Amino acid sequence: MTARVIAIDGPAGSGKSTVAMALAKRLNWSFLDTGAMYRAVTAEALDKGIPVTDDDALSIIAAIANIETIPRVLINGRDVTEIIRLPEINRAVSAVASIPAVREQMVQRQRQFAEDQPVGTVVEGRDISTVVFPTATLKVYLDADIGERAKRRGVENELEIASRDMADSTRAASPLKQDPDAVFINTTAMTVDEVVEAIASCLN
Ligand code: DC
Repeated sequence: MTARVIAIDGPAGSGKSTVAMALAKRLNWSFLDTGAMYRAVTAEALDKGIPVTDDDALSIIAAIANIETIPRVLINGRDVTEIIRLPEINRAVSAVASIPAVREQMVQRQRQFAEDQPVGTVVEGRDISTVVFPTATLKVYLDADIGERAKRRGVENELEIASRDMADSTRAASPLKQDPDAVFINTTAMTVDEVVEAIASCLN
């Protein structure tokens, strides 16, 4: 792999998306929200009435769907940018993301996306440092207190966030965990600019 990547992992509400987006803008790099990809597959399944426990059907969607995340989130041409943030997607997405064949498809697409970018990509998710880009230029793990994370997510309360984190970090396939090489940042009392600055300073 030759692409330059900054990998940012962490639980829901740790600040990954906001920070990754701001960092990409500052560096003039591309940005990839991998959670949006799992959310788009989930939205497609729910739209087609496919249960999220149907691994085979979900794997087929993941294999053949056309997925875009920038500037809007599209699956097979349908704009799901707002839909993927709805409570029913929050509740269903961890099940979809736990299917190994779905993950394989997403990982392949994520690697290809980074290869195609002109300068570099800030990629955020759960397994970016550990599985998708193990040789990333820089690895970062963000976390924050559960109360603060729930406040940031707005539509999800502490219990819902905690149960999604539990599902994401205890699943068999590529669970959320901190890579030993990742820089750990607790963002609870930090502004977005401070976190971006802290990460950018690691590049020097
Ligand atoms: O970051 P997010 O909340 O949008 O992610 C949605 C779900 O997708 C999350 O519950 C776990 C899953 N996910 C994953 O398993 N691997 C990733 N690289 C990104 C997200």
